[in-house]
Amino acid sequence: MTTDSAPRMIRIFDTTLRDGEQAPGCSMNPREKLEVARRLEKLGVDIMEAGFPASSPGDLESVKTIAGFIKDCTVAGLCRCVEKDIDAGREALAKAAHPRIHVFLATSPIHMEYKLRMTPEQVEEQAAAAVRYARKFCSDVEFSAEDASRSDPDFVCRVFGAAIKAGASTLNIPDTVGYAMPGEFGRLVKYIREHTPGGEGVQFSVHVHNDLGLAVANSLAAIQNGAGQIECTINGIGERAGNASLEEIVMALRVRKDYFKADTRLDTAQIYGASRLVSQVTGVKVQPNKAIVGDNAFAHEAGIHQHGVLANRATYEIMTPESVGISQNQMVLGKHSGRHAFEDRLKTLGLTVDAPAMETIFAEFKALADKKKVVSDRDIEALVMGTAA
Ligand code: KIV
Ligand code: ZN
Repeated sequence: MTTDSAPRMIRIFDTTLRDGEQAPGCSMNPREKLEVARRLEKLGVDIMEAGFPASSPGDLESVKTIAGFIKDCTVAGLCRCVEKDIDAGREALAKAAHPRIHVFLATSPIHMEYKLRMTPEQVEEQAAAAVRYARKFCSDVEFSAEDASRSDPDFVCRVFGAAIKAGASTLNIPDTVGYAMPGEFGRLVKYIREHTPGGEGVQFSVHVHNDLGLAVANSLAAIQNGAGQIECTINGIGERAGNASLEEIVMALRVRKDYFKADTRLDTAQIYGASRLVSQVTGVKVQPNKAIVGDNAFAHEAGIHQHGVLANRATYEIMTPESVGISQNQMVLGKHSGRHAFEDRLKTLGLTVDAPAMETIFAEFKALADKKKVVSDRDIEALVMGTAA
C-alpha cells in the first residue's frame, strides 16, 4: 500500500562514539574518533553522541575536538546526574554549533537498590536537579531513565515529568539490558508517552541493546508507538551484544516507508563507507551475513537465485546495493589499475589516507597486484592498516 502523505521524520541519534566505543575491543583514538564523526555528519545523523567527557581526560579532549569541527548536526556529551560530570560536558561542548547535554540515572528497582543505593524519591529529585543544572548552560538537555524497561512505568512517568518541568526536551527510554519484547516495548513507549506529565511538548526516544537479538525490532516497535528519536550505532557495536544497528533501522524505514509511514533524513548511500570505516578503526569485523553491510548482503550463490537476479535484480533484492553505497560495477583492481581507480576505491571503503602515506600504500598495492590476480577490498583495508603480509 502506498500513501501520498509525507512520512514522519525520525531523528537518528548515533552513539557509535560513546556506547559503541565503550564496548570491549572497540576503542578509538582521538584522530579516529574525529574521522568517524566527520563520516557521521556526512551520513546526515541528527545527533551524534561524541563521548562521556567526565570518564577520562582523553574523552573530554575528543568530545571537545569533535564539537569544534562538526557543524551540521547536534553533538551530545553523556553525563551522570552529578554537577562535576555536567561541568565536564559543558567544557567539552563549549564550541559546539548545536550542543546537547545528555544526563542519565537508573529508575529500575534493582539498579536503585544495588547500584545507586538510592530511594525512588532521591532518584526523582536528583534527576530534576541535574536537568535544572544542565539547563543553565545548554538549552538542549536529554534525560535517560536507565533500565527503563525493567522499571515501574508509572515511576518512569513521574521522573520524566520532573525532568520535563526542570527543562528536559528529550526523554529517553532505554532497554539497557536488551530484555524487552517488541510488542511489550511498543506498549511501554505508548504508555509512557501518554502518561508523562508535560509529555505532549517533548521528544520521546529509545535506546535499545541487543542481548536477545531484538534491538532493531524493539526500536521499530517504538517508532510505531510514537518514538521520534532512535539511538543506535554503526554496525550495531556497543556494550555486550551491542546496540541497535543504525543501518538496519534506517533501511527498514526507507525500504518499508509504506508500512511505517516514517523515514529519516540520512543519505543512505553513505552507509557502506561509514560501516567500513568503523570496522577498520575498531578492528571489529562485520559478520558476512550481517544485514545491509555484510559481505554477503547482496551476494547470490544458488543458481536459481543467480538466474532470477540476472533477469531482474528485484526478484531477490528488496533494495539496491547502490542505495547503501555499494557500487555494482566496481572495477576489478589488479596490476593494470591506476592511481585514480585505487583512490576511488579507498573513498568507497571509507578510508582516508594522507598524501605521503598514499605514495607508500599505492606502491604496496602495485607490489601486491603483481603477486595476486585481483586485489580485494579486504587486501586494501589491510594495506591501509599496515597489516598486509
Ligand atoms: O544503555 C543505556 O541505558 C545507556 C544510557 C546511558 C542511555 O547507555
Ligand atoms: Zn546503552
